[in-house]
Amino acid sequence: MDLIGKVLAGATLSRQEWLSVISDRASYPDARLRSIASSIRDSIYGRKVFIRGLVEFTSFCRNDCYYCGLRRSNSRAERYRLSAEEILSACINGYSIGLRTFVLQGGEDMYWDDGRLTALVREIREACPDAAITLSVGERSEDSYRKLRQSGADRYLLRHETADAVHYSKLHPLSMSFQNRLECLRTLKRLGFQTGAGMMVGSPFSSEDTLASDMAFLQDLRPEMVGIGPFIPHRDTPFRDEMMGSVSLTLRMLSIVRIALPSALIPSTTALATASSDGQIDGLDAGANVIMPNITPSTERRKYLLYDNKKISEEEAGENIAWIIEKLRMAGYEGSLERGDHVQAIADIPHS
Ligand code: 5AD
Repeated sequence: MDLIGKVLAGATLSRQEWLSVISDRASYPDARLRSIASSIRDSIYGRKVFIRGLVEFTSFCRNDCYYCGLRRSNSRAERYRLSAEEILSACINGYSIGLRTFVLQGGEDMYWDDGRLTALVREIREACPDAAITLSVGERSEDSYRKLRQSGADRYLLRHETADAVHYSKLHPLSMSFQNRLECLRTLKRLGFQTGAGMMVGSPFSSEDTLASDMAFLQDLRPEMVGIGPFIPHRDTPFRDEMMGSVSLTLRMLSIVRIALPSALIPSTTALATASSDGQIDGLDAGANVIMPNITPSTERRKYLLYDNKKISEEEAGENIAWIIEKLRMAGYEGSLERGDHVQAIADIPHS
């Protein structure tokens, strides 16, 4: 039995074995991984692609990650912060067109302390009682995560970025710790959040070796969601002259993650759509099953720039769900506005 057979039979692979899966393109061609990954996805979620409404609600950030355009030291970034009213009304508009998941994503903006953020989550919960609320606001204390969970948040996205500690220290300033990031992820899971991890593909100093660490880590953590996109340089960061991550390796990793975590919710990311014109559908064909159209008020949307040339298409944003669903249909998928919970998490959802 080869390594894919082993994974499908439920075995945990070593880092070395994951390295073989990632790098041995003769034994594991892209097309084979892609076809296994899509049949696994189809057998669990069918051809459904879950559509989430993404609100990028603050571009302030206290962190200084070397790859990210929102880093604190980037004095050229245009900072904005939506008001609670603006965020709530973006969700209510989204709800009225049928969206049932809202992803509130932002930099680590200290204005949004526990009091303000829990009040916001409660308001959204009240206005959109049967919608899932996903937060993506970085590293916080266990106490803070607990309060957010109790106020009604269901899911939390916190990419681990890389599971190799040395690599982590080359992407982040000393003030950020890989250990703390892992601790946050484990805490989120323990508190009952459907938890998302994930990494960039082709970030500076990454290699098939660091990706193998990512796979071993993901297989151990078993997050409910995994976000993967190519690294794309941003002109006002220390990594401005670094190469963009490979789209084909990103697609290959999407398939491998689907095989490792059959029931994971995996977005076909904006970074992938930015890096390649067919990226979003190619991502789905590789095994992804989630898309996150932007429902941020359009005046601010162009300011949330993690990387250069971010795809900001009006036609594929939240205003135009009908077109998004049609585009998915033409590619053989069924766009779904349902909450789209992870299959194993459905049993313990308090709000349904
Ligand atoms: N290229 C691609 N992805 C990026 N992210 C941040 N900066 C970049 C970049 N330059 C990703 C990180 C982060 C997520 C919100 O966006 O993985 O967790």
